[in-house]
Amino acid sequence: MLQESIPELAKMVEPDRVRKEVYTDPQIFALEMERIHERYWIYCGHESQVPKPGDYTTVQVGRQPMLMVRGKDRKVHVLYNRCPHRGNMICGDRSGNTGEFFRCSYHAWTFQHDGALRSIPMMEAGYAGTRYGKDNPDCSMKRAARVESYRGFVFASLAADGPSLLEFLGASKIAFDDMCDRAPGGEVEVVPNCFRIIQHSNWKIFLENQLDALHPSVVHQSTGRAAHEVEKDIAKRTGKAPLSYHMLSAFATVTIDKWDNFQTLNYPHGHCILTGYMGLRPKDPDTLAYEKVMHNAYGKQRTEEILGVNIHHVLIYPGLSVQSPLQQLRAVRPLGVDRTLTEIWHFRLKGAPEPIYRRSLAYYNLVN
Ligand code: FES
Repeated sequence: MLQESIPELAKMVEPDRVRKEVYTDPQIFALEMERIHERYWIYCGHESQVPKPGDYTTVQVGRQPMLMVRGKDRKVHVLYNRCPHRGNMICGDRSGNTGEFFRCSYHAWTFQHDGALRSIPMMEAGYAGTRYGKDNPDCSMKRAARVESYRGFVFASLAADGPSLLEFLGASKIAFDDMCDRAPGGEVEVVPNCFRIIQHSNWKIFLENQLDALHPSVVHQSTGRAAHEVEKDIAKRTGKAPLSYHMLSAFATVTIDKWDNFQTLNYPHGHCILTGYMGLRPKDPDTLAYEKVMHNAYGKQRTEEILGVNIHHVLIYPGLSVQSPLQQLRAVRPLGVDRTLTEIWHFRLKGAPEPIYRRSLAYYNLVN
């Protein structure tokens, strides 16, 4: 039906131009939600966000408010954040611990951590003769059709059919391998808060910008210059310039023709890798101490392979941009045709020395 009302859908995109309706038409947006965001694997969060049974965090998948929760069996479940009785939202907070079970705040139905109905108060007196009851699966909180995680990063798909998470990720799984392998412990843990930014533009604008290597030396030049001034000032006062500022000042020193050397590698399902990065292997004492811990964990040869991975960031279509060498990711959540929420999360390398964490945290705060 929707497609019929947009008869020229196939002609909206040409090799060198795109019709503006692709970014502005609410009907096209609805179609994208139905066919892409509510069907593909969407990032929900990291397992370390819900370490204890009953811990939950809420998340938007397509148009659906969902929640990710740790069960008593230690499994991570992803449920629709909606009571099956009258549609009341179950968890109003962004995150928390629900205790032994979920309890709806409207008529007090309770649910297990996996969404299964636990009890209906006043069952006999209030609901006699209805189809309500434990035998009816519609009386349980609805679960995401599929949930899988890779190296601690949890994804859900609202479609029952489709490729497995690993098949879907394909080559783009390097985003998580690169981030986790840089930890001497082989794992990362979430830094428990994120930047939330609502952009008044279509979700695709953000993704396209992530792969636009021509803009940084122009758009971010003023940032680079300002960072360079601060960097010089700190160096003058302390004799040492912090690397976090240096990573920003590079925007002013890496010229547009050098950014053009960055390569975009495209993969099935729309995933892309933007290669190259500047100055991530300095020879300061903090980096050398970190490399020593890495040598102990992995041996010299494997450490060189890990630290030599040449990635700026990885785009996992349709909603994730991972900057693995700096342990941050951006989850893109479309809110409407012209409104997009971006959550920017930072991760800590387990087993890495504290100064390495402080440095990447400083960059995370500066760049965002
Ligand atoms: S709406 Fe949840 S118990 Fe009635």
